Amino acid sequence: MHIFSKKADLINHLKENNLDKSTVGFVPTMGALHAGHLSLLKKSIENNATTVISIFVNPTQFNNPEDLKKYPRTLESDVEKIKTISEKILIYAPTVEDIYDGNTKSQHYNFDGLENQMEGKFRPGHFDGVGTVVKRLFEIVNPSNAYFGEKDFQQLQIVKKLVEKEKLSVTIIGCPIFREQNGLAMSSRNERLSENEKKEASIIFKTLNEVKHLFGTKSAKEVAEYVTKTFLNHPIFELEYFEIADEASLLTCKRKNKKKKYRAFIAVFVNKIRLIDTISLN
Ligand code: PAJ
Repeated sequence: MHIFSKKADLINHLKENNLDKSTVGFVPTMGALHAGHLSLLKKSIENNATTVISIFVNPTQFNNPEDLKKYPRTLESDVEKIKTISEKILIYAPTVEDIYDGNTKSQHYNFDGLENQMEGKFRPGHFDGVGTVVKRLFEIVNPSNAYFGEKDFQQLQIVKKLVEKEKLSVTIIGCPIFREQNGLAMSSRNERLSENEKKEASIIFKTLNEVKHLFGTKSAKEVAEYVTKTFLNHPIFELEYFEIADEASLLTCKRKNKKKKYRAFIAVFVNKIRLIDTISLN
């Protein structure tokens, strides 16, 4: 198993073994790996000669210092999980210094408005931090293909926009959401939930499925009112936002247009832990 903490060592390894001459698949993560992350790794292995995973809790994308402090860091068990997929996967687990060279300031990006919706509204600076670190990681790994989950659908669209705007030579591949048996979308933050909170959190996906059904006959506004009411009836949750938006522009759906694809997006707090989820409505 190769674990690199320095970018120079990873770059040298890729070069010395001629791995940079064939296809390199890349899965960027912040660790605390679960089956969702592992599904991205499997997809990468299927389609590339070499697979690299990065494990890096990126400080510049956290708008909430408490969230950054409490973010789970579990490198040892992450490595064990990666081993179960393949011993050939290259792990890049850098320090903040190795990524940022002493300058942890995000670059400011214009993602044609994608950054101003939902997560962008509630997490100021978040997508500048994501854009900055993803671009930096792409420069280091130089992947042919990079794998991102639809769980963070806005992030996926923003990374595609980053690649288009910065003319990067990497193909971005979106992958489906992995869920717990009760429907809760897998997330590293779920580790902080109690058993009871995890059980109760099934309401999120249950509600999204109801939304999918209701959106057939009701307006986006009526559906949003239904969701607000549902969460008021479950006071252990605090609804931060619920939106039905156009998949491509992420703009809020005001009046349904049959030609457009829509998605519902939700963010809720459970005991200060923030959970997000999304579902396609087409
Ligand atoms: P992280 O939250 O660790 O997620 C890493 C990748 O795994 C992302 O592409 C995310 O969408 C995907 N993922 C998370 N949960 C998933 C699930 N339940 N099913 C399928 N895929 C899932 O997203 C980040 O890290 C960071 O913002 C990062 C891109 C690494 C930049 O720091």
